[in-house]
Amino acid sequence: QELQLNLEQIEKGGYEHFMLKEIHEQPTAIKDTYRGRMLADEGLIRMAGVDDNLERIANAKRILIVACGTSWHAGLVAEYIFEELARIPVEVEYASEFRYRNPIISEKDVIIAISQSGETADTMAAIKLAKEKGAFAFGVCNVVGSSISRETHAGAYTHAGPEIGVASTKAFTTQITVLTLMALKLAKQNGTISHTEFMTYLQEMERIPAKIEKALKGDEHIKMIADIYKDARNCLYLGRGFNFPVALEGALKLKEISYIHAEGYPAAEMKHGPIALIDEEMPVVVIATKRGHYEKVVSNIQEIKSRKGKIIAIVTEGDEEVRDLADHVIEVPETLEPLTPLLTTIPLQLLSYHIAVLLGKNVDQPRNLAKSVTVE
Ligand code: G6P
Repeated sequence: QELQLNLEQIEKGGYEHFMLKEIHEQPTAIKDTYRGRMLADEGLIRMAGVDDNLERIANAKRILIVACGTSWHAGLVAEYIFEELARIPVEVEYASEFRYRNPIISEKDVIIAISQSGETADTMAAIKLAKEKGAFAFGVCNVVGSSISRETHAGAYTHAGPEIGVASTKAFTTQITVLTLMALKLAKQNGTISHTEFMTYLQEMERIPAKIEKALKGDEHIKMIADIYKDARNCLYLGRGFNFPVALEGALKLKEISYIHAEGYPAAEMKHGPIALIDEEMPVVVIATKRGHYEKVVSNIQEIKSRKGKIIAIVTEGDEEVRDLADHVIEVPETLEPLTPLLTTIPLQLLSYHIAVLLGKNVDQPRNLAKSVTVE
């Protein structure tokens, strides 16, 4: 018993919970994921699974992404990135819906399954179905040798290392890393971005781990904010563009571990419903980083403010405009817009972590949830 406890403490590497450890591992996990694949000096991206099937993937008429939970959110981020950089149409589907609705799939489609465990039953079934219809199946899994990684024609692993916390953190950011590399590679192949742009992305990607380190330094400040809002019954998360899926993921993290009802919404969609919920009791987390519809998000913030909602804004370092409007701001370093999700996700993970800890919840093993869902 005692030995077991000690072992667990060692595994947590001095952190109180696996989730916190895994949040802090993200700079390393991302580096491990692009190392050997992204050769910034040579201006190259090498990914065996993509290289060996380059024609097939680059000429895809459509990319279908299937996943569940947090992995589905990574798929949504990837949709924005693939379409922006590689100009290939992308559709993102909940695996559970996709598999049962007699989907239209052709041999010119490439289907990407995203799965940390590589064992999610619905994602597995979606891949089998797409393969039967002749699509090329590509897996983005974390667990080496997992069922989905074996069932797909090719793939690229996320090198996040074991993720123990049920709420996914480093798996999410490493999935985005792999998919970004893939999008850049296809963009270069298809000539949809210039060589200069390609190089700029590679160089910026190499700066992401250090920028995450910096974002992690906001921890104490975020804990203080968590303490103010820990008793909220509801919480709204808003974002636009590349950061709309981050809003969904932020809300999911809060629900999963603190059991506070939270909803993520595209900021502009707020006026079609959620705005009715806003009053002085309602914390609203808004991702308002520079560029990416910044001015539009600022006007969404004003709408929340005039209804007395409490605003927690995720902003770009040095932002003044939102600081004047929001109740709290959390800064993240500046980066290229498509890469912002890798940074804006960090404070949202920390916020839900601290709220859950302050409420005394079981952070690593939340009630009713499983790390890997192998039944439908
Ligand atoms: C479960 C986990 C989530 C995960 C989802 C998909 O619900 O609790 O954290 O995002 O399954 O899992 P996968 O292993 O396919 O990424």
